[in-house]
Amino acid sequence: MVEKSYKWWQKTVVYQVYPRSFKDSTGNGIGDLSGIIEKLDYLQNLGVETIWFSPFYPSPTFKPYSQHDCGYDISNYKDIHPEYGTMELFDELVKKIHNRNMKIVLDMVLNHTSIEHPWFKESRSSRDNPKRDWYIWRDGRKPNGKKPPNNWNSMIGKGWEYNSHTDQWFYHAFLPFQPDLNYRNPEVQKEMLDTVRFWLKKGVDGYRLDIINTLFEDAEFRKAPFIFKLFSEDSGTFFKSSQMTLNHPDTYEFCKTLRETIDEFPGKFLVGEITASLKILKNYLGNVCKDGTSHDGLNLVFLFQSMTTPMKPKRFRNLMQMYEKWFSYPYTPTWVFGNHDQRRRITKIGDNFNKAKINATLQLTARGVPFIYYGEELGMKEGKSSKKESRDAIAHYFKWIPQFMQNILGKYGIPINRDGCRTPMQWDDSENAGFCPPNIEPWLSVNPSFIKRNVKKEEKDEGSLLNCYKRLLKVRKESPALQIGDFELINLKKLKEKCLAYKRILGKQEINVYLNFLNKVLLIKIPIQEPKLIFSTLSNRKALYPEANNGKIKLFPFEGIIFR
Ligand code: GLC
Repeated sequence: MVEKSYKWWQKTVVYQVYPRSFKDSTGNGIGDLSGIIEKLDYLQNLGVETIWFSPFYPSPTFKPYSQHDCGYDISNYKDIHPEYGTMELFDELVKKIHNRNMKIVLDMVLNHTSIEHPWFKESRSSRDNPKRDWYIWRDGRKPNGKKPPNNWNSMIGKGWEYNSHTDQWFYHAFLPFQPDLNYRNPEVQKEMLDTVRFWLKKGVDGYRLDIINTLFEDAEFRKAPFIFKLFSEDSGTFFKSSQMTLNHPDTYEFCKTLRETIDEFPGKFLVGEITASLKILKNYLGNVCKDGTSHDGLNLVFLFQSMTTPMKPKRFRNLMQMYEKWFSYPYTPTWVFGNHDQRRRITKIGDNFNKAKINATLQLTARGVPFIYYGEELGMKEGKSSKKESRDAIAHYFKWIPQFMQNILGKYGIPINRDGCRTPMQWDDSENAGFCPPNIEPWLSVNPSFIKRNVKKEEKDEGSLLNCYKRLLKVRKESPALQIGDFELINLKKLKEKCLAYKRILGKQEINVYLNFLNKVLLIKIPIQEPKLIFSTLSNRKALYPEANNGKIKLFPFEGIIFR
């Protein structure tokens, strides 16, 4: 039998900061590194350990490409975008995070650069430029080459863009201003692995790998076959297979190279962003190593399945069972409910704080690494932004889709306008929510909910969502069973449609979690004589008092409890 052992990143809780929206210290309406440094105490007090930053590398600074995809369009991989600060400030940030015994994770966009990256500018300048083969260039289809080289799509729409200067087409897996690097060129691989090393040497503790499933395409540029499906996570969309462009076996192999690269620096980790079925996702994690305590691909992948899981015990039970099936030790699941691309979770669950507390309890007690998106802890809800005002490049790309359709798609996890989840962090109830000075226009409007939902106010209210997160994070920090314990569902028989219950087990320690998903009181028989309450979503609950209910425990409407 394998003696289980765990690395720090398997026990950690990650908090995602979207730098543009976190805290503006210079008064230009855009968040920045000094602003983040100012707020490190907040994050430390909240109780999260690892901070993942969406990109703050240089992105073009002039129109029309200025911060077009808000940093996911990089024009220099080894510097800091001037709007956010300087390399000195970055070094200070790393130091201040580490001084707090916290960790820092950067976002790495390996698949594509900005169209204004000097490499691409060179590449597009002539067919025989030394950088030509750094990107994916092909002739158009015959007879006159004015049709794209083949029928490949990007993740968003059409995959090829024409360049009249050299009369060839380049491929892009995302938007047209984000040309794909050519990973079949060893020079590109070398350069990008070097970039990965660059920030590790500066002390970062890991990377979130942006759309890592798009790195390699079919080497022979074969046509994407027809499939009889409108939408499928793995096989394609709109009747076209994605097998030539997504989840290529060479990408799985490259993930192993990435892993070897970060392992040159002990204690680092990689989490991959891939939207796919659990079966495909597992390929990115590689195979179990000889000693049985690790695997040789990415350390983690986001499991986005939870994002669209409705608040029903059965749906979460099924999901948890699937995670146990596919990601049992030494693999580690992840729990993620929001990010800078998705509608905010609280809006998806009816803007209901009680449900949000249940959701948080589940996220922080299930087996796996939780990823909290900034503002989730406050109940920040989806901002409204009309098509006209939208800042997001995707919204511009899809401006032909009527607003009501956009709203419907958003509900089904296909957000067309991502501004709504990127509104400024709500620090207090002053004008602009304390994000930037009152007389300044923030880069995105503050969500009007800031009057009630803000850090200052919620810190003072014992029953707030923020304090619920704080208590949960503390409980988790103090409980090795919650961090690394085995997972076991508890069968509640008749009550199983109302309540979700499970245990986390580590040696002799057993921690029980019961979540009442209904707006009703539940009486539940438990197999423990003298249960000791560790946590309740109700801040004033002191104990479970089974003796008062013939040995049963009483769960109040939408109450979540943890006990041993
Ligand atoms: C990822 C990012 C998203 C970005 C895209 C292209 O999905 O999360 O924000 O637009 O990749 O880099």
